[in-house]
Amino acid sequence: MAEINGITETLAAAAINGETSAAGAGDSDDVVTPWNVQTKSAAGVDYTKLIRLFGSQPVETALLDKFEQVTGKPMPHLLRRKIFFSHRDLDQILNVYSSKKPFYLYTGRGPSGEAMHLGHLIPFLFTKQLQDLFDIPLVIQLTDDEKFLWKDLTLEKANELAKENAKDIIAVGFDPEKTFIFSDLDFMAQEPSFYRNILRVQKAVTYSQAKGVFGFTESDHIGKVGFPAIQAVPAFCSTFPFIFGKRKDIPCLIPCGIDQDPYFRITRDVAPKLGFCKPSLLHSSFIPSLQGAQTKMSSSDPQSSIYLTDTPAQIKNKINKYAFSGGRQTVEEHREKGGDCDVDISYQYLTFFLEDDARLEQIRQDYTNGKLLTGELKKELIVLLQALVQDHQKRRAAVTDEMVEQFMKPRKLKYDY
Ligand code: TYM
Repeated sequence: MAEINGITETLAAAAINGETSAAGAGDSDDVVTPWNVQTKSAAGVDYTKLIRLFGSQPVETALLDKFEQVTGKPMPHLLRRKIFFSHRDLDQILNVYSSKKPFYLYTGRGPSGEAMHLGHLIPFLFTKQLQDLFDIPLVIQLTDDEKFLWKDLTLEKANELAKENAKDIIAVGFDPEKTFIFSDLDFMAQEPSFYRNILRVQKAVTYSQAKGVFGFTESDHIGKVGFPAIQAVPAFCSTFPFIFGKRKDIPCLIPCGIDQDPYFRITRDVAPKLGFCKPSLLHSSFIPSLQGAQTKMSSSDPQSSIYLTDTPAQIKNKINKYAFSGGRQTVEEHREKGGDCDVDISYQYLTFFLEDDARLEQIRQDYTNGKLLTGELKKELIVLLQALVQDHQKRRAAVTDEMVEQFMKPRKLKYDY
C-alpha cells in the first residue's frame, strides 16, 4: 500500500480534510475541495503548502528537463511555467514512455451548465498538447451522473449538458481516431466492464475512508457516497476493452485541477489491491476569479468568469470592470511605484494564455516598474482573449451532432495492443 510519512494516501487525505474543512479550521486558511476553493490571501492559494498537505510532489526543474529529454520536444508553456505545479509519479510515466511501453491520458468534466469557462478549458488545452507530444489514446469522462446527484438537474438535462459540453471539448481540436469521450449515463449501459470495475472499487473503499476524504455527512444521500468509484475507474485500462483489449497493465496519466485530487488519492490507494496500475497525475493551479485570487473562476459565480460563449464586448467589459488590478490609485503613483503582478488578475491570466515567454516577461517588467499602465495591461489581455474565445466559437460552431456521436461511440482507436 502506498505510504507517505508512514500513512496511506487516503488516510493522509483524511487528515488534510480535517484541516481544510469548510470551517477552515487548523493552521491553514486555504480551502481546496472538489466543491470549493477559498483563501484569504490576495496572491491566491498557497500552492506550496497545498503540496505538503496533499502529499503530492512539486513539479521541479530537474523533472521538466527529463520531460524534454524523453520527448525530445519543447514542453507546453503550462508546464514550463509550472501552472501544472504538482504531480504524482510523473517520473514513472516518463520512464514508461522512454522504455517504449504504452500509457494513456484520462481527464474529465462535470457538465453542470451550458457554458464552460476559461478555467475548464485549461486541462483540455493542456491534455491536447500532451496527446500531440506522446501520440497516445485519451479518454474523457463527462460525469452527468455526478451533476444529477449534486445539483438540481434532471437526468435528461444532465445528459443533454454532457453532449453540449462535448462540443466544446471537441472544439479544442481532439482527433476522433485517438480520443474517446463518454457520458457516464450512456456508457454504463454500453460497456459491462465499467460497472464491474466500479463494484470492485466500491467494495475496496470503506465509508469511513470516503467520509475522511470527501467530508460526507449523515444527511448526504447514498448516491454521493458511491460516486467516487465512478470517477476512479476510467484510470484503469480494463474499463475500456474496446480500446485496450484484454490488457490490464497499461497505466494512465491524469491532467486535472488540484481540486480533483481527492478522487485520485482513493484511486491510487485501491489500484494495487485490485491488481491495477496506479495512475500518475499532473495537477494545475486555478485560474483565479476576475475579482481576485481568493477564489477560483467558478460557474457558481457568473461575474467571476469569462465564458467560452462571451461576446467580444462582454469580454472587454468584464475585464475592464471586474479584473482586480495590482495597479496604483493614480497614474502618477503608478509611474512612480509600479504595479503588483502578484495580485493583478489581468497579468495572472496572461501567464495562462500568452504563450510567448519574451513578451510576457517584457509586460511583467514594464508593469512592475510603472511604464505600463493598468488600462494598457488590460487591453493586452482583452485582445488576446477576444481572439481565443472567438476562434473557439468558430470551431465549436463547426462541430455537428454526428461528430459528437462519432467521438462518443465505444470503438477501437488507431492504436493496437
Ligand atoms: P469540473 O467540471 O468541476 O472541472 C473540470 C476540470 O476543470 C478544472 N477547473 C479549473 N482549472 C483551472 N482553473 C479553474 N478556475 C478551474 N475550474 C475548474 C477542474 O479541476 C477539472 O480538472 N468531477 C469532475 C469531472 C471529472 C474529472 C475526471 C476531472 C471526471 N473525471 C478526471 C478531471 C479528471 C468535475 O466535476 O470537474
